[in-house]
Amino acid sequence: MSQRSIRPRRLRSSPAMRRLVAETRLHPADLVLPMFVREGATGPEPIGSMPGVVQHSLDSLKGAIAQAAEAGIGGVMLFGVPLEKDAIGSGATDPDGILNLATRVAVEEAGGALVVQTDLCLDEFTDHGHCGVLRASTSSATGYEVDNEATLERYREMALVQAESGSHLLGLSGMMDGQTAVVREALEGAGFVDTAILAYAAKYASAYYGPFREAVNSSLVGDRRSYQMDAANRREGSLEVELDIIEGADVVMVKPAGSYLDVLADVAATSTVPVWAYQVSGEYAMIEAAAANGWIDRERAIDESVLAIKRAGADVVLTYWALELAERLRRS
Ligand code: PBG
Repeated sequence: MSQRSIRPRRLRSSPAMRRLVAETRLHPADLVLPMFVREGATGPEPIGSMPGVVQHSLDSLKGAIAQAAEAGIGGVMLFGVPLEKDAIGSGATDPDGILNLATRVAVEEAGGALVVQTDLCLDEFTDHGHCGVLRASTSSATGYEVDNEATLERYREMALVQAESGSHLLGLSGMMDGQTAVVREALEGAGFVDTAILAYAAKYASAYYGPFREAVNSSLVGDRRSYQMDAANRREGSLEVELDIIEGADVVMVKPAGSYLDVLADVAATSTVPVWAYQVSGEYAMIEAAAANGWIDRERAIDESVLAIKRAGADVVLTYWALELAERLRRS
């Protein structure tokens, strides 16, 4: 066979051929929509840095959940935005706190069709904006540090309240050491044996979370580099995943997605549990902003960005475009 007879272009010659030989496909069931619910909101309120994404009221959440179920996506990830915050994030463990109320609404509206997931982290509820509780520290330049063990106690309580509210899957996004083990133990101890854990296992300290800060009215001063991972580290992503699997995670995640496809591919090659990836707020905002300026073909860029995340090995993608993509996929 002459080299000239090997022509990769043959399989690119028509739309039907390209569709048939595609190695990766998007499907509505592989998409999860992150949603924001704000205490005291009277209707959906736009988020400036995330055009098309809103902070829901409990009432507008209902319709949006029904729409998500109708579109056939796999699930929703809920974030609460409370009116009041304090040092320990009390709103997170209040059974009538905004996130727990929203969970009940979502489960009642479409809990049979969607996997209802909740962010298990304190940052939306603390007045300092950190993912845990603080303690004084003489070795830290700020004079304080995030107290790992005290934070685990708060996560334990939060897990029980979220499970009690009906959350199907707890999204542990705080990056405290040992958080998966502690939450698993608390759930088992209280009889919540079917409440699943999604460990944000390899979560990096990222500038791409920028727009999310607006979405949750964050009060954070400083950064999260003492608990979230350093962008320089690839191997460490595998360590974080390994630990979370040992501690009892049902699903592990890499976050952000687009700038960490190498980490995602590593994890996908070795994980014994499902691997998800979170296409975060900044990834969304960049494409929306470029498209709004006419600098990029919006739909093609969205498709390509999500497809790349799946191609790298994600079984499921959390993306703010989940609904739009699902509706488009069902039409095509
Ligand atoms: C923590 C959390 C964050 C995001 C999801 N969960 C913020 C952070 O870690 O700073 C960011 C998601 C996004 O940017 O879309 N509760």
